[in-house]
This record gives sequence, C-alpha cells and structure tokens, in this order.
Amino acid sequence: MKTIVILISGRGSNLDAILKAVASRGWNARIAAVISNREEALGLNLAKNHGVPTEILRHQDYFDREQFDDALIQKIDAYEPDLVVLAGFMRILTDRFVDRYEGKLLNIHPSLLPSFPGLNTHLKALEKGVKWHGATVHFVTKVMDEGPIIAQGAVPVLPDDTPDVLAQRVLKIEHQIFVQAIEWFLNGRLRQENGIVTVFPPDQQFFNFDVNSLISADY
Ligand code: GRF
Repeated sequence: MKTIVILISGRGSNLDAILKAVASRGWNARIAAVISNREEALGLNLAKNHGVPTEILRHQDYFDREQFDDALIQKIDAYEPDLVVLAGFMRILTDRFVDRYEGKLLNIHPSLLPSFPGLNTHLKALEKGVKWHGATVHFVTKVMDEGPIIAQGAVPVLPDDTPDVLAQRVLKIEHQIFVQAIEWFLNGRLRQENGIVTVFPPDQQFFNFDVNSLISADY
C-alpha cells in the first residue's frame, strides 16, 4: 500500500479529483494527510468529507521560507509518504524541500510547459494568442515549473475566452492528467532518463485518438 501526502492552498478541485480516484480506481494507495498553508482553504473540507486527516501550517507563523519548509518537512515525514503531491500549493519551495522529495514530488501547472511558467498563465496565453492551451504534470526540481514532464493535456482557446472561462476548460483536463500521472507513478510505470519521462509499458489508451493515424506513408 502506497502512502500519499497532498499539499494544497485553496479550492482543492484537483484534490477532489484525486480523492475520488482513490475511492474509485482501485489504487493500492491511501491519502495519509492533506496539509494546507492556508486555514481557509476550501479543499480542507473536501478532505474531511472523505475522512482524510488534515493539517494546517500557516506560512505567516514562520520567520522565513527555510523555517517554514523545515516545519513542513517534519509534518510530511511523520507520514512516511511514497508520494508527495502539490495540488494547487501556492508556495515557492526551498532547495532543501525539493532535495528531500525529489523523484516523488509531483506538481500540476496550468499551462503547456515550457510555455507560461509562473502565475497568471491563462491571461498570458490569451495575450500571446496561442490557439491551444492546457496543463502539465511534472516532477518537481529546483527550478520552478521546469521539472521532467509526465503528462500534458491540451484544450482549444476560443475567440471569446476570458482568463476565467479558459481556466475552467483547462481545469477539467488538469483533473484527468493529474489522476493519470499519479496512477502511473503508483504503478511504477514512470521511467526517467536525462530529464525525459516515459511511461512503461506505453499507455495508448491515454490518447483519445489513434496515434498511428497521424503517421502517413505518403511522405
Ligand atoms: C490549478 O489550476 C493548479 O494547476 C494550480 O492552482 C490551481 C489549483 O486549483 N497550480 P484547485 O485548488 O486544485 O482547484
């Protein structure tokens, strides 16, 4: 049985998708705890409703980033997790934190990385006029939003989109690819070499089109 700890800061819709997946997809895993740096995070209620223990660690209570992350490490380590999931955890992490969990620390980012790292990704996408936008699940490394990419999902950008409308469309794909990436991780299917992640054995079902139909013998 694998143990997961999930960190959140807010609404928790990705957390909700993961909670539902644990209950419905037959994972040999349990969510040991949900930890939030904000006491008002709505996601805490979702966790409670699923009977998952919650903890609050207010970053304002710590002198600096290092002290906060050290306290967070202590809390997380008490659960001895196999996987630590950042599900809308809006904090920049110290190197020490990343070192501690490297290889078992996943993040979801609301853009098709390497485009639009950082905040306000939907606004940036609209300002740039991209026609496709989306989300990325990646292993966390010391450089923010740069770690090896595990899964991506794309959605079209439509003419009348506002950042909020686009965010809603992206969020749906976030929930799908996050659950899928976690499942691959739990099943030991992720291989990493030179910063490139592959799923082994390959997962054709993840694509909702026939990959082979894109390869033509005409050229
Ligand atoms: C998501 O868009 C996620 O990609 C980003 O923060 C948002 C969190 O949403 N990092 P939720 O709390 O999971 O609903």
